Amino acid sequence: MPLTGTGELVETAEGTGIGAFNVITVEHAEAIVAGAERAARPVILQISQNAVKFHHGRLAPIAAATRAVAETADVPVALHLDHVTDAALWEVAPQHGFGSVMIDASKLPYADNVAETSRAVEFLNSRGLWVESELGQVGGKEGEAALSAHAPGARTDPDEAAAYVFETGVDALAVAVGSSHAMTSRDASLDHELIERIRAAVTVPLVLHGSSGVPDEELAEAVKGGMVKINIGTALNVAYTAAVREHLDAHPDNVDPRKYLTAARDAMTDTVAHFLKVLSGNPQG
Ligand code: G3H
Ligand code: ZN
Repeated sequence: MPLTGTGELVETAEGTGIGAFNVITVEHAEAIVAGAERAARPVILQISQNAVKFHHGRLAPIAAATRAVAETADVPVALHLDHVTDAALWEVAPQHGFGSVMIDASKLPYADNVAETSRAVEFLNSRGLWVESELGQVGGKEGEAALSAHAPGARTDPDEAAAYVFETGVDALAVAVGSSHAMTSRDASLDHELIERIRAAVTVPLVLHGSSGVPDEELAEAVKGGMVKINIGTALNVAYTAAVREHLDAHPDNVDPRKYLTAARDAMTDTVAHFLKVLSGNPQG
């Protein structure tokens, strides 16, 4: 199936959450597509700047492999470049087939965040790409270092979020509502009342980052409350690593990576299918 765009998926989500899963290796991409096919749901494959760094700073090989896997899918798949702080990386997103980019200027002071994000929006929108961005600590005073929107306790202020979206022209906004990146346990507690207030104040789709740490019921409620793009990364790595560890413990003489990577890929596929069912609004279906 030809690639679709993140914007198309998000805009036609109709009250469901669109899962956006982080790709580190080609097995991640294969597992995400297999999980989406099993759940019969569209999906977003996202490659972060950190994953590019892991691949010796080279975007082309992992982007090409991910794109090739996406194009074999039986469900709609979009390609997204995630948490980009380096302008040299977002500038090449169009030529590598990405339909969307998340500009992460959230650690910059507010005015610099707006300036950098606006520059990216102008460049990427004119080439047909959809842009997501993140607001750092909201309400920060002049000269005060901004916190990441996912620092414990950080929360998005609805009025400042509305102003930020207006000033930058972004297509979607990542908000700080209680989730936190890289959690290996699922016990984050979301501020649903704040989600509702941001939803009422901001016109563009909302994005939840750090969703690995959010329990199923909380995720389902967040989607009902208006969160649309749901970013999940660490949960796949938890599943991957546990499967490899279990396989190698049981087969200490095995040296064939296909055996333990099959276990890892299968475990990630189960995880993706599970999250996508939860986000569909019909977990039993
Ligand atoms: O942008 C990626 C996500 O926010 C992933 O966060 O690894 O905590 O699920 P997570
Ligand atoms: Zn994130």
